[in-house]
Amino acid sequence: MEHHSASIGVLVVGVGFIAEQHIAAIHADPRSHLAGIVDVDAARAAGAARANGGVPWWTDLAEALARPEIDACVVCTPNFTHTPIAVAVAESGRHLLIEKPLATDVAGARRSAAAFAAANRVLMPAHTHRCYDYARTVKEAVGELGRPEFVRLAILGGWIWPDWRAWVLDPARSGGHALHNGVHLLDLVTWWTGDRPETVYARGRKQTAAELGIHDYLEMTVGFAGGATAVCEMSRGHRPSSFAARDVLVVGEEGILTLPADAEGGTIVDESGTGTLAPAGTNGFAVQLGAWIEAIGGAEPLMTPDDGVLAVAMGVAAERSIATGVPVRIDDVLTEAGA
Ligand SMILES: NC(=O)c1ccc[n+]([C@@H]2O[C@H](COP(=O)([O-])OP(=O)(O)OC[C@H]3O[C@@H](n4cnc5c(N)ncnc54)[C@H](O)[C@@H]3O)[C@@H](O)[C@H]2O)c1
Repeated sequence: MEHHSASIGVLVVGVGFIAEQHIAAIHADPRSHLAGIVDVDAARAAGAARANGGVPWWTDLAEALARPEIDACVVCTPNFTHTPIAVAVAESGRHLLIEKPLATDVAGARRSAAAFAAANRVLMPAHTHRCYDYARTVKEAVGELGRPEFVRLAILGGWIWPDWRAWVLDPARSGGHALHNGVHLLDLVTWWTGDRPETVYARGRKQTAAELGIHDYLEMTVGFAGGATAVCEMSRGHRPSSFAARDVLVVGEEGILTLPADAEGGTIVDESGTGTLAPAGTNGFAVQLGAWIEAIGGAEPLMTPDDGVLAVAMGVAAERSIATGVPVRIDDVLTEAGA
């Protein structure tokens, strides 16, 4: 394949469920091309390489990072592998877009952030929901609504993971569901309000089966320093398993925004009347990849390493709140992990 010299050669590490979306975005963006694939599972690496024009593949990350055609990495491996892989990528001098959560604990997230700061390379945690139309619609509308006072976000689904993804059911490897998937909501409400989260109060339920090691249904309430409250509901336990729904309500000082479950646009109600927000029709993974490529080029990053560290702290706080039954202070989680 011929590529423009400015095109970034991207190594994708971990080709399971979500890598396909990243690979499609890499192919679709003229500023990047797929330069290789790594997976500890040789059959999966070879299969993905074959499906993508016969790009080179490796089972050993260090071997791949020794290759000069690799400019940057997209990491889509299980959560517990994120920190050692991120540190290796930083030490090799490559930029990184890494799947959420940045790590399974705050200390690991900070190690990755520090490694990229030392290497002077871009680290972007993939809080993909920020790149979806519905989330960008809310972010853009927040100014019009005035200071957010209350946010309600529900993301409900019915699928629980079988096959090789058993790691997602193991809290030691996923960090628990409030971190693993709850982090999408915790990050989003923080980004929307633009405020500093102080506390997380959470409850979890094992909806699909009492034997589950994780909570497949979560209620998480975030208290912000500026006075706003966010109520988040996250489920993978609804039936039928194909069920998927999302609901957003943002109450600002000046107006109220609602987004219907089946649309990316929304409605704003304020003293001047009711206005509609048009959906943009973009692909979230393409927007995310584009933001990363632009950050590599020197633009303001859409998601910073600090955002990733904070999101991990919020997920850890939610897990702890579920375990203890009381609200957990984010500062306590951040402080005990060392400044
Ligand atoms: N942004 C999103 O919307 C979104 C959606 C789904 C998953 N994710 C995240 O993406 C990551 C991957 O999730 P998934 O569902 O694709 O998992 P998966 O289990 O389907 O795939 C992970 C792949 O990584 C490989 N792997 C495991 N350890 C490895 C290592 N040390 N080095 C190289 N390869 C390794 C596995 O063999 C597998 O092919 C997780 O961090 C998850 O939280 C994000």
